[in-house]
Amino acid sequence: MRYGEPVDEVSDVVQDERRITLTVNGRRRAVEVEPRLLLAHLLREGLGLTGTHLGCDTTSCGACTVLVDGTPVKSCTMLAVQADGHEVTTVEGLGTPSELDPVQEGFSVEHGLQCGFCTPGMMLTSKALLERNPDPSEDEVRWALSGNLCRCTGYQNIVKAVLWAARKQSPAGNGASANGSGREAES
Ligand code: FES
Ligand code: FES
Repeated sequence: MRYGEPVDEVSDVVQDERRITLTVNGRRRAVEVEPRLLLAHLLREGLGLTGTHLGCDTTSCGACTVLVDGTPVKSCTMLAVQADGHEVTTVEGLGTPSELDPVQEGFSVEHGLQCGFCTPGMMLTSKALLERNPDPSEDEVRWALSGNLCRCTGYQNIVKAVLWAARKQSPAGNGASANGSGREAES
């Protein structure tokens, strides 16, 4: 069928499903998806991983950020079929209730959230930053998070949370007292 042609039956407009295989939070998943399905919708509705939030649907807010092969990606802008063969990490894969990731601990200790809507995306972007730059400056944290919007905390405590996690992960780090970077977020 060519674009713009009238359709006689609803079945004419339903696209064929494709089988894709991806690893989500360390677990291999094989799923059938329509080629038009967004990764965010596969994660939330197909796999029940509702920690991935949808705020804008237009690549603006960053609430839907997940890691694809370790790189932050806005999952409202990526098709599920594009994740075929790749590794996806959502907030559910970041830590466990008994063993939080340092980034999660940082957000808790430094009160880096209020409503929590932006938090999964903030934490995954922060996780990727600390992987490639374990000792970021405040400016580097702010730059890394510039694609993630928060409508209620302000950014001060979010930045503090990331710097806390960096200290926690440093060789000497125990978070609250160690100071690997020697930097604190300015007020
Ligand atoms: S929902 Fe994807 S960037 Fe806002
Ligand atoms: S904590 Fe509410 S939007 Fe960021």
